[in-house]
Amino acid sequence: MLNLVISGAPGCGKGTQSALIIEKYHLIHFSTGELLRTEINLGTPLGIEAGEYINKGNLVPDEMIIDIITNAIHNLCKTCPGIIFDGFPRTVEQAEALEKLMNGLGIPVSAMIELKVPDRDLMNRLLIRGETSGRTDDNLETIKKRLDVFKSKTAPVTDYYSSLDKYHSIDGVGTLDEVFERICDVLDTEML
Ligand code: AP5
Ligand code: MG
Repeated sequence: MLNLVISGAPGCGKGTQSALIIEKYHLIHFSTGELLRTEINLGTPLGIEAGEYINKGNLVPDEMIIDIITNAIHNLCKTCPGIIFDGFPRTVEQAEALEKLMNGLGIPVSAMIELKVPDRDLMNRLLIRGETSGRTDDNLETIKKRLDVFKSKTAPVTDYYSSLDKYHSIDGVGTLDEVFERICDVLDTEML
């Protein structure tokens, strides 16, 4: 099984590249951001609570996210070719919980890839997307906050995966195909 974590700052291309990866490697896509946006759109209690954090560019509390992931993983097919975690884990606490969960199920995380993109490009990408996305967090003030939160809370997750020898840094600047080719190089090595 190929169980992959795709990480990186807001706008680095996690969702875009996940779509390409899923198509080629037949993985199940698991995006905590998309899952939370669905709950917000449905107006569920979870969505209402999560929305208060997301609209300010803050992270949703670890306990909430870890509960969601734990329930979802138990419902996923264990014989599927693998899972891609997009935008999760976002804190060291979440990473530790995921490691414990997946190891306990005998389906460990294979690799973590981080897409590296300079802040200036991230800002441009998200502001452009914000013109049409309808995402309440795609505005200048919230984007700045999301980038700060990434640096303080999520960047340390790379050290965690480095210590497990699972971390791969990938240049996320270039055309979609160029970035995808770099990812495939890493994945094909992991799958050998
Ligand atoms: P989430 O939905 O994960 O958003 P994010 O991390 O802020 O990232 P985005 O989805 O905005 O960007 P992306 O990296 O997927 O890039 P994309 O492919 O879309 O999380 C949202 C919020 O939910 C968080 O802030 C938090 O509040 C909460 N949350 C989620 N998970 C959580 C967790 N685990 N714990 C706690 N809270 C959590 O690309 C962006 C744009 O760039 C697109 O327009 C795309 O077309 C363009 N683009 C992509 N690739 C390229 C390229 N190579 N060149 C030029 N443009 C490109
Ligand atoms: Mg995304």
